Amino acid sequence: MKFSKLTDRISDLGSDKWLLHLEARKLKKNNPNIIELTIGEPDQPPPEELIEKCCDSMRSGRTKYSNGRGEEILLDALVQKYQKRTPLKVTRNNFLCLPGTQTALFATVMCLTEEEDEILVGDPYYATYEGIIKSSGATIIPIPLHEKYDFSLQEKDFRMKITSKSKALLLNYPHNPTGGILRKKDLSELADIVKKNNLWIISDEVYEELIFKEDFVSPLEIPTLAERTIVVSSISKSHASPGFRSGWVFASEEVINKMLPLAETMLFGNQPFIADMTAYAISNKSQTALKMRTDYQRRAKLICKKLANTKNIRPIMPKSGMFILIKLELKNFNDEKFAWNLLHSEGVAVMPGSSFGLNGKDFIRLSLTVPDKELESACERIDEFVKKID
Ligand SMILES: Cc1ncc(COP(=O)(O)O)c(C=O)c1O
Repeated sequence: MKFSKLTDRISDLGSDKWLLHLEARKLKKNNPNIIELTIGEPDQPPPEELIEKCCDSMRSGRTKYSNGRGEEILLDALVQKYQKRTPLKVTRNNFLCLPGTQTALFATVMCLTEEEDEILVGDPYYATYEGIIKSSGATIIPIPLHEKYDFSLQEKDFRMKITSKSKALLLNYPHNPTGGILRKKDLSELADIVKKNNLWIISDEVYEELIFKEDFVSPLEIPTLAERTIVVSSISKSHASPGFRSGWVFASEEVINKMLPLAETMLFGNQPFIADMTAYAISNKSQTALKMRTDYQRRAKLICKKLANTKNIRPIMPKSGMFILIKLELKNFNDEKFAWNLLHSEGVAVMPGSSFGLNGKDFIRLSLTVPDKELESACERIDEFVKKID
């Protein structure tokens, strides 16, 4: 039997990217000593009131079919949230509610691009981007992000990668895996090239509430970028609620109208009780985000301190998010070999940087979502390991 070309294009871009994580989970069943620092699963529970909202809503009968765009209560909450951010006039027609940023991104890329198109992305990039882009048939064009610029996308690197096939720039700030951020000045510098080349901006803002010190800036705030920007986001990180699968797309009415049939044919609407809970979540300041920001910043500092004197590896203090990168400066160990050996020798599971693109290959990524004590112990084991292989 024959399958579509899509299945071939993405055959190794699903769970293959997470092989080390899956192996660590397997080992952990018989060895509770394994420390898992692989994925970005918040260690906070979701706020209790969100669970209550959900249950109340289900009990009140909000378990019927919805519509393709989203429940009015959620659309109104989203209008309130985004109207504060952009000079554009925001209405319910600017939104599409979807199960998580991942689906929102998938739908966006499928509606904007196809074979022959190129999507530019800062490299390193979130592990699923490659699969999403290849699903549509488009080509991913990595733009190197440099540590010396705190991993913010530089205008000159961006300019060099543009061709007649360029269709969109996919931004993800606050950034996974580097914790980099983009400031207003950086965005303004990109704006002219974006406009001149008639590019879309797809802005994955799922970590917007996890910046440690500075304010979050969206391309929606820059007048020349706002109308060509499509924002995808969710409550997965801001409210420590990834399992609720509640996200959205914000874009011009024209874009949303084009995307709507895809959402309708694929999903036939979302869950009204999830919409009620999400409307409440985004209308009230998230104390959970505040706690996560504090915890993750403190833990990143702890790692920097604990590994400061370990030779040939160097932690890089992030400005946001739930991860920290460690630069490897070892002769005979690339990121993959380092991560797999570290798992089998010391029982510490970290992500090899090359899971996040070619430019990630000199790094490993550690998740900051475990208690401080466990992180301290992981650092001690990493230090031991590096001494052994030196
Ligand atoms: C950059 C980035 N985008 C999207 C996602 C997926 O988010 P969601 O749970 O909203 O689908 C993640 C999850 O880790 C992420 O790191």
